[in-house]
Amino acid sequence: MTHHDLALIGFGGVNRALAEIIRDRGETLADDLGFTLRVVAITDLRLGSLMQSEGIDLHAALAMTGADTFAGLPGGDAEPRNHHVIRNTTADVISEATFTNPIDGEPAISHVRAALESGKSVTTTNKGPVALAGAALNRLAEENGASFEYEGSVMSGTPVLRLAGETLKGLRITRIQGILNGTSNFVLGQMEAGKSLDDAVAEAQALGYAEADPTADIEGSDVQLKVVILANELLDAELTTADVPRTGISGITATDVIAAAAAGEHWKLIGTVERDESGAVTASVQPLSLSADHPLAGISGATNAVAFTTDLLGTVTISGPGAGRIETAYALLSDIIAIDAHQQSFAGALR
Ligand SMILES: NC(=O)c1ccc[n+]([C@@H]2O[C@H](COP(=O)([O-])OP(=O)(O)OC[C@H]3O[C@@H](n4cnc5c(N)ncnc54)[C@H](OP(=O)(O)O)[C@@H]3O)[C@@H](O)[C@H]2O)c1
Repeated sequence: MTHHDLALIGFGGVNRALAEIIRDRGETLADDLGFTLRVVAITDLRLGSLMQSEGIDLHAALAMTGADTFAGLPGGDAEPRNHHVIRNTTADVISEATFTNPIDGEPAISHVRAALESGKSVTTTNKGPVALAGAALNRLAEENGASFEYEGSVMSGTPVLRLAGETLKGLRITRIQGILNGTSNFVLGQMEAGKSLDDAVAEAQALGYAEADPTADIEGSDVQLKVVILANELLDAELTTADVPRTGISGITATDVIAAAAAGEHWKLIGTVERDESGAVTASVQPLSLSADHPLAGISGATNAVAFTTDLLGTVTISGPGAGRIETAYALLSDIIAIDAHQQSFAGALR
């Protein structure tokens, strides 16, 4: 049986959830997947860093709170020392789950680059590195014989990138339309039920869907990053966020939403990517009032969905969670499964 050692960069909701899955399901996973997993390094702004090549006790690490640090433990330090850990850990897979920086992607881009340069594969749920430096990081991975996987950067654990990139191969995708932000979709649903935008946002915050500052969700910049990823990853475009015009939902009123519903339509914040006959790819983020027969019209609450328009298969739609710590940690696990498969096929080719 093969084996993977992981280093977790950032120990917040998502990487903690991955550690919980490994702690709680390690043996079942080994039986199901044919490889074992161990965490050998963790770094975090508050806890510091910990490297234990024989495997970290995840029960103990998960019991630590923001008041604790790794200082005093064998291999522990009160400072995060991310780059030292990424370069020197015995891990073969780095799981990057620090915060998303939509402006320059840092420090996550540097974390990913350091990992790939040292020949380690990377899984991340962080949109920043993928949207802002995806092509360069993919090249770096190839140059270093490593894998760069980021399924969770678009729809959390719902496998939208692998569905299109692997399972829909051979089809010509001409359009991708998505509800890619659960918070704004929830808010529009609440407005359809009669709430004002502000009250609906407050409700989303109370339920934990929206951040204290909901701007990225409401004004569409979160969707803009995901649209760039879909366009570049699935339609071979080279878009940046500047190429994607963006309008959020703050200009939509409850009156608009209720009037649309009375006419059988539903307002949704839609990210669109289109490829024309010449191969040119364009993208946008804007609220659209969808007729009831549109495949995305019935997607309600915080659920996400993407509809692919294809030549041979018509429209294929996938829906599922677009957020959640466990759901997003599953994306990391699915990436590790893909990394293992690449390594197995590479090893097979050498035999
Ligand atoms: N949660 C979701 O549903 C979801 C869904 C899709 C994608 N994502 C993405 O996945 C990533 C992780 O999300 P999350 O929910 O786990 O976020 P989170 O709970 O805020 O965790 C991020 C962790 O990384 C730490 N951190 C930040 N900068 C760091 C640095 N330079 N070095 C070391 N540690 C650092 C943070 O420490 P502090 O707390 O001290 O800042 C925090 O512990 C984000 O990029 C997010 O956008 C999340």
